[in-house]
Amino acid sequence: MEKSQTNGTRGLFISFEGIDGAGKSTHIDALAQAFCVQGRVVKLTREPGGTVLAEKLRALVLTASMDAMTEALLVFAARRDHLQQVIEPALAQGLVVLCDRFTDATFAYQGGGREFSLETLTYLEQLVQTVQAPRGDFVRQPDLTLWFDLAPEIAAERLAGARLPDKFEAQPVTFFKKVASAYAKRCEADPTRFAVIAANQSREQVWRDVLIALQQRAYLS
Ligand code: TMP
Repeated sequence: MEKSQTNGTRGLFISFEGIDGAGKSTHIDALAQAFCVQGRVVKLTREPGGTVLAEKLRALVLTASMDAMTEALLVFAARRDHLQQVIEPALAQGLVVLCDRFTDATFAYQGGGREFSLETLTYLEQLVQTVQAPRGDFVRQPDLTLWFDLAPEIAAERLAGARLPDKFEAQPVTFFKKVASAYAKRCEADPTRFAVIAANQSREQVWRDVLIALQQRAYLS
């Protein structure tokens, strides 16, 4: 799924967001298949992670105890490496990049959940995601973000009894309420980039809504 697509097709960057337990993973795989069927080359990746270095940072962020600023700096360091090594080259080759979480997760988890300064996160976002281009620099953002919106209480029920929770999954519902509310604010601030997917429905209905969101934007036929 990762060979280059050099026929002039424009790269497409889609991120997937939601609180832990919102059920985005199966849909990411299904969407990768749907793009492949339509002849697109897909790069499946995730944050924090996606490169050797960023996966090492992921392991630290998900297991070690640290303050919110350290967490924010580590996820942005991982993101910088991921953008440089994987995302930008893939987009330049015209691939479809499907990324399980991106910067909205930092605003939601470190900004909302941990209550870390949104101003500092905004500064880091500009710093880390600036792309130098012949027609002028710009801040890289996904073309589309699918936000799997689910009540924290339902997500907690889904997570209960699942695999051993990581540092974030082990947080109480009150933490996830703050995370969910920060996602909602990101969505309000940039409504054209976001598609809100009601994740409390059956898996089949969620998948139908994912497809509709992609078709409405003519990303899939
Ligand atoms: P995942 O298990 O869905 O891949 O997500 C990893 C965890 O890392 C998830 O609980 C959210 C958290 N996270 C942050 O706290 N900040 C970030 O910037 C990102 C990308 C993820």
